[in-house]
Amino acid sequence: MTHTLIYPHTTVHNEAGHLAIGGCDVVELATVYGTPLFIYDEQTLRDQCRAYKTAFSSRTDLCEIVYASKAFSCRAMCELVAAEGLSLDVAAGGELAAARLAAFPPERIYFHGNNKSRSEIELGLEMGIGYFVVDSLREIELLDDLAGARGVCQTVLVRLTPGVKPTTHSYVQTGQQDSKFGFGLGDGQAEEAVRRTLAAANLQLVGVHAHIGSQIFDLSSYRAAVEVLFAALAEWRRLHGFECCLFNLGGGLGIRYTPSDQPSSITEFAGAAVDAVAEQVARHGITMPKLLVEPGRSIAGTAAVTAYRVGTVKVIPGVRTYVAVDGGMSDNIRPMLYGSRYEAMIADKADVPATVEVTVAGKHCESGDMLVRDVLIAPPEPGDVLVTPATGAYGYALANNYNGQPRPAVVMVGDGESRVIIDRETTDDVVRLQRPLA
Ligand SMILES: Cc1ncc(COP(=O)(O)O)c(C=O)c1O
Repeated sequence: MTHTLIYPHTTVHNEAGHLAIGGCDVVELATVYGTPLFIYDEQTLRDQCRAYKTAFSSRTDLCEIVYASKAFSCRAMCELVAAEGLSLDVAAGGELAAARLAAFPPERIYFHGNNKSRSEIELGLEMGIGYFVVDSLREIELLDDLAGARGVCQTVLVRLTPGVKPTTHSYVQTGQQDSKFGFGLGDGQAEEAVRRTLAAANLQLVGVHAHIGSQIFDLSSYRAAVEVLFAALAEWRRLHGFECCLFNLGGGLGIRYTPSDQPSSITEFAGAAVDAVAEQVARHGITMPKLLVEPGRSIAGTAAVTAYRVGTVKVIPGVRTYVAVDGGMSDNIRPMLYGSRYEAMIADKADVPATVEVTVAGKHCESGDMLVRDVLIAPPEPGDVLVTPATGAYGYALANNYNGQPRPAVVMVGDGESRVIIDRETTDDVVRLQRPLA
């Protein structure tokens, strides 16, 4: 059974021969809450938060783990992350609003975004969040003005693009020079941003940030980024007297979506990051900053599965068998965006050998709406509950209403109990904002 690798940690096959997570029968969950259904395992989420804390804090006292809430943001998740003692990265006003609803400690919030609006900045200031990660000269100016108008001095980090390209999908590479994010090191923009931030009356520059990409397996790109960034920090210290107190290396650690994926572990990531920083600190003779990382996918990814109900099974002899489910690109757009590969299984036939090769199709009016291609599952029938694992990150977060499809419900499971943490949308919700022509 490969469940320990790509399924939540508490996954078992129960006496009924069904898939069970957090002590709950997945087939029963699908019946009670309906489908499509995101099922999050509380234990896995907490295990991942703790694994990060242990891996980094056993190597350095100067570290902080910041959960990147873009991977999966909602009130309950913010509450869990707060209880686990992690900080929070938000990328837009909506994620900030979820943090506020959860009463997340504002001083532990980092606000990202390459085009923060005035009202988003004002919301962050009103909440008294700890840090803005500034991303453009315009933002520096606007934030300085708005902070000044409130009579506050806002602590900020400057987002840098170190010019490092990790081996991952080009859509999730963010650290290269040609990026919409941050200030380039190679073209003098970064130094200009540091200079202006230091000169701003109502801003206090305390650190730098870089996020080189996502779903990264090879840790050498992080080492390369640390080297480039510290060379710049040494230069800015000499030129501007800037002492970097917070060094935020972003997120990006990859996870296993299929058993053949071979990501680095959290422990290996921590080892590589801490060693690289220590090496560069010694090399440049600068004060050791606090090391921050911002994992999203590697905390939430394998903590959830999506359960669907099988509708039609279309056999095209000698060609392919399509198993159509009641969701698709509206609840998991990653296969269409990035060509991402997933696994699948039938939850009500967990003990039945996977002998039939099928393609799992969504219900949307789009030929590319294929959730999983060419996967072996137990013989499928209409009414089965089909599950795709490792959908906890950038699944619900990227959900949409294509074809007027309501967004799924999300449940949290643990110790044999389940509870809804995000209600299922209804078709009334989907049309609620629509007005007549005249
Ligand atoms: C600034 C920043 N930090 C952290 C993350 C989280 O990355 P991941 O989910 O790959 O860990 C992202 C993802 O895009 C990001 O843009």
